[in-house]
Amino acid sequence: MRRLQRATLLVSTGLLLGGGLGCAESGSDIEDLDRETVFEERLSAAERRGRDVWFENTYGGGTFFQFLAVHPDPSKRIRIAFDEVLNTPRDQRFAQWGLINDPDCEANPAGGPDLCDDPAGTGVLGIRREASGAFGVTCASCHAGLDPLNPPADVNEPTWDNIHPTIGNQYAKFGKIFGHNLAATDVRRLMFNGWRDGTVDTTALFNDNIMNPGVVTAFWDQKHRRTFDIGTGHRELRNGQGGEDDAGGDLATIRVYTNIGVCFFECVAPRPDRPDPNAPIDVAQCRRDCANFPPQQDLDDVGAFLRQVKAPQYPGHPTTLGQAVTYVKGGLTFAVACGNCHSVTGPGRRVYSDAEINPMDAQSTNTCRARTTNWDTGKLWAQFSSDVYKNRGYKGYRTMPLTGIWTTSPFFHNNSVGPYAPADASPAARAAAYEAAMYEMMSASRAPLVQTLPFPVGPFPAGTPLAYVFSRAPATGQLLCDDVVENRGHYYGSDLSASSKAALIYWLKYQ
Ligand code: HEC
Ligand code: HEC
Repeated sequence: MRRLQRATLLVSTGLLLGGGLGCAESGSDIEDLDRETVFEERLSAAERRGRDVWFENTYGGGTFFQFLAVHPDPSKRIRIAFDEVLNTPRDQRFAQWGLINDPDCEANPAGGPDLCDDPAGTGVLGIRREASGAFGVTCASCHAGLDPLNPPADVNEPTWDNIHPTIGNQYAKFGKIFGHNLAATDVRRLMFNGWRDGTVDTTALFNDNIMNPGVVTAFWDQKHRRTFDIGTGHRELRNGQGGEDDAGGDLATIRVYTNIGVCFFECVAPRPDRPDPNAPIDVAQCRRDCANFPPQQDLDDVGAFLRQVKAPQYPGHPTTLGQAVTYVKGGLTFAVACGNCHSVTGPGRRVYSDAEINPMDAQSTNTCRARTTNWDTGKLWAQFSSDVYKNRGYKGYRTMPLTGIWTTSPFFHNNSVGPYAPADASPAARAAAYEAAMYEMMSASRAPLVQTLPFPVGPFPAGTPLAYVFSRAPATGQLLCDDVVENRGHYYGSDLSASSKAALIYWLKYQ
């Protein structure tokens, strides 16, 4: 398949560059290549509903977080820092927690949580007060971020125009929010401290016993992503950095909802007929027994909304002849050096990804995330992955799409390569972070990033890599991931000349 794409690549390169250069106004693909962000008036009624579900609905998941705070097993007991976050003054909240203030609320002059007209509003985007009084979280709590094309003048007082629904909050200190209330002697604190900003281990509470925090993936241009026949006659997107959630959008959404507490007691908690807490969730049973199960209409509308989100397009376009030459050279360089995976022809070409799963080899990025077992046969999320995933015979990372990549340094599934742009960065300043990340990525001599224990823990001396401590099977102590260098791998392009790298980076910024 790859070889075939490669063969057709050079023939169609002219077309590819012709379509990109000069930007959308005059191209023949305008309709499909429209990459504006989603404006209110452009959305249908269903899409608007879907947006509101994305930002607002928690379906009672908050009772799960309440339960965690009093979990009968002390090793699982954890009080997520909702109160502390909401009681942090609005003008310090972003700096302390990396969370985004809800534009519809304002600081309470008397102190304490913000004032919001919406009774479910809490002051923070995506954290909602449920009827029970519990705090639940919405999809947007992690996925909404600041709009790179329209950054806020003050990060503490964003307007809705400054919010991007799916870029992923690159600044959220999820580890701090999870670990803040743990005792100083609790080793889990060290694990949470190891999560880089913008990353969260979605298998921390539903544990595969691998320390594998992953970035909240930016996603857009879904319409143009490659789909796969998953053996059911349906073609579906591959979601998840390892392509785990590949059995369709509805199932993926339901899984995430159960992961943020929805239907926990009905569907996930151990019970007499399902005593093993890691036994597969039975989706049909869950739908039947859980009154809060998200209605099909909501799933449909969220899906419709998400399909409308377009990649942020870097402002302007090459104008001078010199820029045009660089642009063309960059596109050609990319086609040859990267196009094999980040397809420039064939399915997925508009988002630059064949969405294939790349087996683990010397070029792999840190493999711990891909080693997750939660979607395997017989495991907790088995019903949410396809047989194609289960029978592939290897795990690895999905080739990630690259449209809008100028907005999301640091790179890779674990945010390990490249700098963070300041949250209020102008597009040019944000692109500078992207450029630095690209140079770091296209270099075979990155300084290894290895996080280690600051003091001895049990049998492990200070200096032991965190992966050795936190990626072990509880019963046997068996090491489940020994890959300690977080920023390794994906050295493609490192042997290019300086001028080819510069041209490639220039071209990719506009895609
Ligand atoms: C606690 C933070 C958090 C919340 C809340 C959350 N997500 Fe995510 N989401 C993530 C992370 C982290 C990833 C990357 C997962 C991975 O592959 O490692 C992700 C990935 C995804 C992806 C895959 C994108 C891709 O290209 O692979 C989709 C789609 C998605 N989430 C949808 C949802 C939906 C729908 C909801 C609400 C039901 C939701 N998310 C709520 C953190 C979150
Ligand atoms: C063999 C397949 C393959 C080739 C060739 C390849 N990539 Fe990738 N690329 C991947 C995979 C897989 C990932 C996801 C890695 C991860 O998330 O850990 C990725 C991720 C990236 C990312 C980070 C995306 C993000 O959202 O963080 C960038 C940027 C990128 N590639 C650019 C390039 C460039 C530029 C080239 C050519 C010089 C290239 N790639 C060649 C497979 C490939």
